[in-house]
Amino acid sequence: MNPWNNDFPILNQSMNNKRLVYLDNAATVQRPLPVLRAVDEFYRTQNANPHRGLYALSIEATERYEDARHTVAEFIGAEKDCEVIFTRNASESLNLVAYSYGLTFLKEGDEIVLPVSEHHSNLVPWQMVAKAKGAKLVYLYPDEDGRLTDAEIEAKITAKTKVVALAHVSNVLGSVYPVAKIAAKAHSVGAVVVLDCAQSIPHMAVDVKKLGADFAVFSGHKMMAPMGIGVLYGREEILNAMPPFLRGGEMIEYVHEQDATFAPLPQKFEAGTQNVGGAVGLEAAVRYLQGVGYEKIQRTERELLNYALDGLEKIPHVTVYAGTGNRVDRCGVISFNVDGVHPHDVASILDMDGIAIRAGHHCAQPLMEYLQVNATCRASLYFYNTKEDVDLFLESLKKVRGWLGLGA
Ligand SMILES: Cc1ncc(COP(=O)(O)O)c(C=O)c1O
Repeated sequence: MNPWNNDFPILNQSMNNKRLVYLDNAATVQRPLPVLRAVDEFYRTQNANPHRGLYALSIEATERYEDARHTVAEFIGAEKDCEVIFTRNASESLNLVAYSYGLTFLKEGDEIVLPVSEHHSNLVPWQMVAKAKGAKLVYLYPDEDGRLTDAEIEAKITAKTKVVALAHVSNVLGSVYPVAKIAAKAHSVGAVVVLDCAQSIPHMAVDVKKLGADFAVFSGHKMMAPMGIGVLYGREEILNAMPPFLRGGEMIEYVHEQDATFAPLPQKFEAGTQNVGGAVGLEAAVRYLQGVGYEKIQRTERELLNYALDGLEKIPHVTVYAGTGNRVDRCGVISFNVDGVHPHDVASILDMDGIAIRAGHHCAQPLMEYLQVNATCRASLYFYNTKEDVDLFLESLKKVRGWLGLGA
């Protein structure tokens, strides 16, 4: 019996008459009861529109919202609470940076450096900026182990670089990129660092100062909070220099017929009624993560990753992308293919055994091109997974080619 099943009731469910084995944690993780309860309690006892009412309930809702901001700010090592902006998700946070910072401060000939493995959310907004401003995208290419080498970093980040946008952890290869080193290089040429922590913060400590992030983004739903709440961290000085992204209620100081002035941080970037229930859930998720502890999360996931990679090495006709050798700078995300079988078929066959994995391009088509594939299968782990989950996954995978009448 999985010891986490009491906290994660969804893991007790069966799928296709089999025990659910949830291995799509890079897409979204499951929510534990304390998070579900916190959201439920907020809506049952504290719900009101924050920052608006002068009555007690609204003040209480405002306090809950701002407490959540404080918890997140402390959690990521921000200097001030106002450096934490609540958004809907990592994608919205990245669009905010691209539209507000990118369109304002980049100019013709500037370069935006990013790994070719970036999620479309940290790539397509920069294509928009590059097109609008006459800037250029310059890609960092990982080596066969999924690492970004010093030579690649040195060659690509130059005096022309104005933005270095990268994921802390690749959502396809699982690579953990050397962010502090890259940030130091970026800062030495005067570039800002936009760090996508969507795949790292569920698994490892993120300290924005130590990592050297000028901006950092993540989504609540990948770290056990509800869907629809996300975070943008930005250094106060830079956020102050940026124009608002979305305009409307709550983000203004004063509105005249022809013009408006804007509220100070963080409200300047939070137009309209905010997802207070989501922020409350995010705070509960942070508390839950702290309760489990990153040390335990990493220990468990590393053990499971090694176990899964060892198992995959023994299955013929399976290719693991970024290989199975790099087990150090890597999180529990494994992309692979089975010879002669479309990834969608692999995922559907595993689904018949109750095993949920992802198949597709994982919102990383430039990486697919680089790997010379259209799609991959992806199994992604979280601390509540078990060796038994991995065994069931490996056993099911062994049957795939047989199912389709292909040789073992
Ligand atoms: C590395 C990375 N960045 C950004 C995103 C976008 O997250 P969201 O869809 O929550 O905006 C994802 C989602 O998979 C991701 O893996």
